[in-house]
Amino acid sequence: MKDLKIKLDVNNMLKEFVGADGIILSDIDNIKNKIDGAIKAMETKRSRMEWRDLPHNQADVVQDILAFSKEVRQKFEALVVFGIGGSALGPIALQQAIHSPFYNVCASQRAENPKLFVADNIDPVTMSRLLSVVDLKKTLFSVVSKSGSTSETMAQFMIIKDILEKNLGKEAAKNHLVCTTDKENGNLIKIAKAEGYKTFYIPGGVGGRFSQLCPVGLLPAAICGIDIEKLLAGAAYMDELCQNENIWENPAYIYAILHYIAMKKDKNISVMMPYADSLRFISDWYAQLWAESLGKKFDNDGKVVNVGQTPVKALGVTDQHSQVQLYVEGPYDKVLVLVGVDKFPVDVEIPVSFADVPSLGFLGGHSLSELLIAEQKATEYALQQAGRMNMTITLPEVNEFTVGQLLYMLEVATAFAGELLNIDAFDQPGVEEGKNATYAYFGRPGYEAKKAEMDAQPAKNPKYII
Ligand code: PA5
Repeated sequence: MKDLKIKLDVNNMLKEFVGADGIILSDIDNIKNKIDGAIKAMETKRSRMEWRDLPHNQADVVQDILAFSKEVRQKFEALVVFGIGGSALGPIALQQAIHSPFYNVCASQRAENPKLFVADNIDPVTMSRLLSVVDLKKTLFSVVSKSGSTSETMAQFMIIKDILEKNLGKEAAKNHLVCTTDKENGNLIKIAKAEGYKTFYIPGGVGGRFSQLCPVGLLPAAICGIDIEKLLAGAAYMDELCQNENIWENPAYIYAILHYIAMKKDKNISVMMPYADSLRFISDWYAQLWAESLGKKFDNDGKVVNVGQTPVKALGVTDQHSQVQLYVEGPYDKVLVLVGVDKFPVDVEIPVSFADVPSLGFLGGHSLSELLIAEQKATEYALQQAGRMNMTITLPEVNEFTVGQLLYMLEVATAFAGELLNIDAFDQPGVEEGKNATYAYFGRPGYEAKKAEMDAQPAKNPKYII
């Protein structure tokens, strides 16, 4: 198992490596009380962080998912997930991490697994094109919403329910819908029960962005042939590491502490830059986790703090030719997290050719993975030379066990950063405000006051619409 442990290297966060702008150990000592308080809070609040138990308490859920997945693989050739935010980003990240980007278009890579489409937006063009590429009779639609009331997901559900019933008949339509939602609360569970849809549950204390390791992420993963038991084993292994109170042995704690100190030093941007296409959408998932959890107006004492760090998604090497110029020479306002891989499952050799052209010949005889890893190290070096705080997470290889570790580590780091910032990392009042405004626009009963408040806003000045 130790061979598959992911590694976090934080040398380049420190002054001894990046110079004046870096962190010194006394910066950590100076917040010792805060750190101790956060460690204690992680223990005392653990029973309320139900997402922390997901690696350990889902034996029955996993069996149910595996049995259902087997049936799905026999009956369907496509799975469409309708969900948004936490309900979509995790499934996309995991699918891309474990499978090739050509999964949907390559039957031999997919084996007997269905194609996967995650529809996390309500763009009418995408929706209608999606419905034109799947065969309704051979497609399962999975509706995922913790609250069971998110307008986007519920609109998608209403559309597909209607289409299925009109095309296949009411009874047959039921076999094409599966719902993942709260066990008791919200409209979706009520409808699912009344209609007799197959359901999976999101435990009470598991919010959207922390739900990847419950049926939200596990169901589409298992249907597509991802080993969810290995994923949970990786998370369980990381949970063990994340219980260590020694901050230098707890990757999540030190990750959060160094980011917290960086924030205090005005590093208000957090860039995640994986050096593997397979990890590309981990950055999307992480961006939501970090942004929605830590971007808060009030602290736990009700004081206005307006904290948070803006996440930026980048991809190595692609964005070396797009963003790295800014990261090396622009403002000192960022922390960069490079995510690398030691061993790729396949490699491609660069042929020995153009030996007489020194500026090309040097590439020959190496492989693309060697070039990718060299470029990652080169970026790390350039950032360090330019005095830019950065850290590196390395996966020995990308598989369910290592990805399980990575997801869980970043979740604990986010929760711990929330404690250091003294904010509630698990709510999202800013998102709720937007949701409520949508309800008001659409005339949902109960939102009349919000509609009146919005109507009372000053009209836009046409002069400023050019
Ligand atoms: O992290 C969160 O809580 C949010 O991003 C939700 O996942 C998102 O708003 C969708 O909510 P729901 O699952 O209730 O439809």
